[in-house]
Amino acid sequence: PPSPYYNSSASAPHVVITAGPTREPLDPVRYISNHSSGKMGFALAAAAVAQGAKVTLISGPVNLPTPPGATRIDVESAEQMHREAQRLAPQAALFIGCAAVADYRAPAPAEHKLKKQDDSDTLTLTLVKNPDIIASIAALPAGQRPLVVGFAAETQEIERYAQDKLQRKGLDMIVANDVSQAGLGFGSDQNAAWLLWRTAEGVESRAEAPQPKTQLAATIIHQALALLSTTAP
Ligand code: CTP
Ligand code: CA
Repeated sequence: PPSPYYNSSASAPHVVITAGPTREPLDPVRYISNHSSGKMGFALAAAAVAQGAKVTLISGPVNLPTPPGATRIDVESAEQMHREAQRLAPQAALFIGCAAVADYRAPAPAEHKLKKQDDSDTLTLTLVKNPDIIASIAALPAGQRPLVVGFAAETQEIERYAQDKLQRKGLDMIVANDVSQAGLGFGSDQNAAWLLWRTAEGVESRAEAPQPKTQLAATIIHQALALLSTTAP
């Protein structure tokens, strides 16, 4: 169905979405990553296409088909994802950071396969912090800054931690997932969530019951486009 907010393709908003995990190399054969399936980000891309947007999906390594109508850019590391986000976001109306970005990486991956050391039973890795992709997009100057929506996967004090992240990263909206419940969140097809967004009066929030990721994705896109239509110049 056509979007309720944008009824001509000429004014279709450009939506950039990051999805999936990132992969941080340690040496030519090993990496640090996480269990993100990419399902939520891909569902958001499909929902945004369905609601009339032009969609670019910046995806970490996942095993999912590209949603029809979306343009997909594959990346591996957080630094690569950061570069693509910086390149695309200044032209976008809406940026959604759904990727499970690795917080740390090896400062410089070893050129050759690391060998097991015979003289020690432990190995200590020194890691460096990755760039905060979504915070860097939220900090773009006016005129280059899209509306910015983030995610927060939490296991406790979900609303409080999500509100902290909304403020700290300078986001316009955040989707907080409770990943403490079995069958929800990472790798699952269902998600429960709180939506928190900034208004002139402060922060508003709404709880969303556990539902398929595809349905939650449509709700999130709908809310974000509504927010965009109230803030667009
Ligand atoms: N994010 C990002 N770049 C990073 C880390 C996170 O863009 N280097 C984005 C995620 O895509 C998500 C939001 O920030 O939209 C929150 O990610 P999360 O991991 O929950 O936040 P962190 O700030 O990394 O805090 P922590 O992992 O300690 O909870
Ligand atoms: Ca993190």
